[in-house]
Amino acid sequence: MPTKTGVLAEGKSKRLHTTEDPNLLIQEFKDDATAFNGVKKASIKSKGVFNCDISTRIFHLLEEAGIATHLVENLSATEQLVKRVDIVMIEFIVRNRVAGSLAKRYGMDEGPELPRPIIEYFVKSDELGDPLIGRDCAEALGYADFATIDECTELTLKINQLMLAFWAQLGVNLVDFKIEFGRDAEGNLLLADEITPDGCRLWDAKTNEKLDKDVFRRDLGDLSETYEKVAKMVADAIPL
Ligand SMILES: Nc1ncnc2c1ncn2[C@@H]1O[C@H](COP(=O)(O)OP(=O)(O)OP(=O)(O)O)[C@@H](O)[C@H]1O
Ligand SMILES: [Mg+2]
Repeated sequence: MPTKTGVLAEGKSKRLHTTEDPNLLIQEFKDDATAFNGVKKASIKSKGVFNCDISTRIFHLLEEAGIATHLVENLSATEQLVKRVDIVMIEFIVRNRVAGSLAKRYGMDEGPELPRPIIEYFVKSDELGDPLIGRDCAEALGYADFATIDECTELTLKINQLMLAFWAQLGVNLVDFKIEFGRDAEGNLLLADEITPDGCRLWDAKTNEKLDKDVFRRDLGDLSETYEKVAKMVADAIPL
């Protein structure tokens, strides 16, 4: 069992610990929830456990489908052993329906299906409030080179196809989600970070019930209960 030697980074929802192996990190999921760039905060009972389990199982599914990820193995209820990567400083958002900041930006109602999945790039910067950025601008300002942006874009679309099918089979509409990529010591591009209801919009296909962090953002109910429900669905669908 690898041991923690220090804290490399602590974000809003996770802590990254170094280990004796410079290429391996322990990713710990916390109970903290934040919204509106950290303005709204709360501790949500067992959120770390639910999100660790959900992300572990989804990354397993993606690995089985041929997507290279940073996940090595699950270590405990809230911890994963992951490969250390240099994170690409762009967040990749894929959208299948109009919702969230897209709806707000263009003055649209949430819900309509888009004619095809679209990808948006956002700068990974809490200081700047994660602003939207174009491909050209992202390259010119040095956030990532074109080859990396394009490789991540292609991977994001592939992951979206796998995720759309997975959630559809559970009776859930995958509205949008955010992913992050990074390069390991050998230069391989890996899916990093997490896939959890913190960074996805998941709507029950029959009732439109929200099964994601919007429950917290918009005070729609008990987030812990929502995540517990999602974790059960995912655990039933992806045995480890
Ligand atoms: N395998 C990895 N190697 C190195 N860094 C990673 C890896 N996986 C995730 N990270 C980074 O670790 C941090 C995880 O913390 P958390 O998700 O809590 O951050 P955050 O507050 O959401 O900030 P951010 O907006 O940067 O994601 C993120 O900055 C993420 O990019
Ligand atoms: Mg994060």
